[in-house]
Amino acid sequence: MSIIEKAVERLEQLQRASGAADVSQREEPQGEILTVAPVREEAPVVKAAAEEPAVAVAPAPAPAVAPNPDRFVEIDLDRLNSVGIVTPNAARSLIGDEYRIIKRPLLRNVQGKGASAVKNANLIMVTSSLPGEGKSFSSINLAISMAMELDHTVLLIDADVSRPWVLNILGLPPRKGLMDVLTSNDIELGDVLLKTNIEKLSLLPAGTPHPRATELLASDSMNTLLAELADRYSDRIIIFDSPPLIVTTESRVLATHMGQVVMVVESNKTTQAAVKQALSTIDACPVRLMLLNKSQQSGSGSYGYGYGYGYGYGYGHAPRDNA
Ligand SMILES: Nc1ncnc2c1ncn2[C@@H]1O[C@H](COP(=O)(O)OP(=O)(O)OP(=O)(O)O)[C@@H](O)[C@H]1O
Ligand SMILES: [Mg+2]
Repeated sequence: MSIIEKAVERLEQLQRASGAADVSQREEPQGEILTVAPVREEAPVVKAAAEEPAVAVAPAPAPAVAPNPDRFVEIDLDRLNSVGIVTPNAARSLIGDEYRIIKRPLLRNVQGKGASAVKNANLIMVTSSLPGEGKSFSSINLAISMAMELDHTVLLIDADVSRPWVLNILGLPPRKGLMDVLTSNDIELGDVLLKTNIEKLSLLPAGTPHPRATELLASDSMNTLLAELADRYSDRIIIFDSPPLIVTTESRVLATHMGQVVMVVESNKTTQAAVKQALSTIDACPVRLMLLNKSQQSGSGSYGYGYGYGYGYGYGHAPRDNA
């Protein structure tokens, strides 16, 4: 480079430097300097973007936030399906079709489309007269079936705290939950709620076994918690897998907070007297639906689901004498 060329270059450098300084001090910036430099600087980036649209133009999907392992559980859906529970993405099944029918009136009330408005319709208790009629099985099926609907987020609570079974059916180990919230000042509801790989389904496990579990379920703390649930999660459907009505009393108390009660009746087993007695304990609940479980009759559906049982469904009236 000649001396003249060097001088010219140096002059240009000085001009550039003084121009930049001037610009920074100008009240009214001049577009040329202010805008050209950035455009030149950015030009290669824009060009690259145009050349590689998939990477630079289309915004990459936000990286999946790794679920908090303390608050997330992975349910084995194939296993669940094999034990007769409705699962998303499974082939059409009798049980899926049955629950599609079963959830409909409940959802209508939740959406305020029932015959009359139901207070706290989103709080749904699943109970029965006696143990072993299929409350947990039905709660889980209902919860998953509802969570598979586009507009519904569902929280399934294992409120059968002396015989918790929800996590077991879902193939999950015991976790902290309801009992821990009720017995510890340091544990909040939000600390123990679990998200699942079923996108719209969350779980509240029964939690650490407690010798006074039954009393706790009917305690003031539980009432406060229910009020909090109704208020904080008013947009969610909350399903309570609950103890049976005749042999325990806590479900009767729980029922007073619920908008809807689903009473599971085991087909060909539960007597009419037992059902009547159970229904009389939850008189105050505005909506009581009966779910006839393990009914061989409806199990003979035509969808080829290899499953020996089915469901019938009726409204708030006792089954026939021979039920
Ligand atoms: N429709 C059904 N088809 C096949 N098996 C069923 C059906 N309903 C319930 N069961 C089975 O019957 C048994 C009892 O069901 P589940 O545990 O749901 O009853 P529960 O009323 O919750 O009992 P508990 O009172 O002890 O809590 C379980 O083994 C469950 O898998
Ligand atoms: Mg149960």
